[in-house]
Amino acid sequence: MKLMLVTGTGTGVGKTVTTAALAACALRSGQRVAVVKPVQTGVRPGEPGDLAEVCRLTGLSDLHEYARYPEPLAPATAARRLGEPGPDLAGLAARIAELADRDLVIVEGAGGALVRFNDRAEGICQLATALRGLGAQPGVVLVTGVALGALHDAAATAAALRGWSLGPDALVVGDWPAEPGLAECCNLQDLPDYAGAPLQGILPHGGGVLGPAAFAERAAGWLTPALGGSLDASEFVRAHAVPLPRNEIPR
Ligand SMILES: Nc1ncnc2c1ncn2[C@@H]1O[C@H](COP(=O)(O)OP(=O)(O)OP(=O)(O)O)[C@@H](O)[C@H]1O
Ligand SMILES: [Mg+2]
Repeated sequence: MKLMLVTGTGTGVGKTVTTAALAACALRSGQRVAVVKPVQTGVRPGEPGDLAEVCRLTGLSDLHEYARYPEPLAPATAARRLGEPGPDLAGLAARIAELADRDLVIVEGAGGALVRFNDRAEGICQLATALRGLGAQPGVVLVTGVALGALHDAAATAAALRGWSLGPDALVVGDWPAEPGLAECCNLQDLPDYAGAPLQGILPHGGGVLGPAAFAERAAGWLTPALGGSLDASEFVRAHAVPLPRNEIPR
């Protein structure tokens, strides 16, 4: 089983859309894929969460959610407010390990990489360690924003991940704007260096609201071959390079 952990610089950066794109590419190449959201917050029992979005975008039904807290908060906080400890990491890891007969298992974290799942201050990094203890070798995909401020977020998150020997192995821009400005274009160039990870995905704004047929058709163009797609990230960065200002700024 190949295991990928999808984490991010924060909430709302595009982890779910990235997870769906990874799944769509793997499905197209005939792989057996499962997607796991170990802990979901912000939705009540029976309401659609992140896995429902993955299902809508990809048609995948091999979906696994292990704990849910309705308040839109970090899992440990939402659990604490119910008087609960939050999920036990060894238990989560064991359930993910049960999916070992799939070709690819994609695990989406909650919020940013340091967000806690339980009252032991454990989150996706400790989950990765527990999975390693069970013999898995998870690859880590870091999803990031690209607007002004993204460089620090990506660098700080990647440094934290490295502290747990968790790559990151790939950097993905979760929501590339239709009309990128100076900061976005320059950040695209600088993000891999700040994060110490190769740019392996650029998801266009609007990608997450496509129907399943269009999503399946287009997702491969958003991810590089390392993530199962056909994107040439270097070419994309080159195409968005902004001319130098030397003829415009008086010295
Ligand atoms: N490329 C995109 N195209 C369209 N919408 C997007 C894109 N990326 C993100 N969004 C939208 O932004 C919101 C947050 O994206 P997403 O759910 O993927 O973030 P997340 O990192 O998974 O957040 P969470 O921490 O809640 O799991 C969603 O409403 C999603 O539809
Ligand atoms: Mg999500």
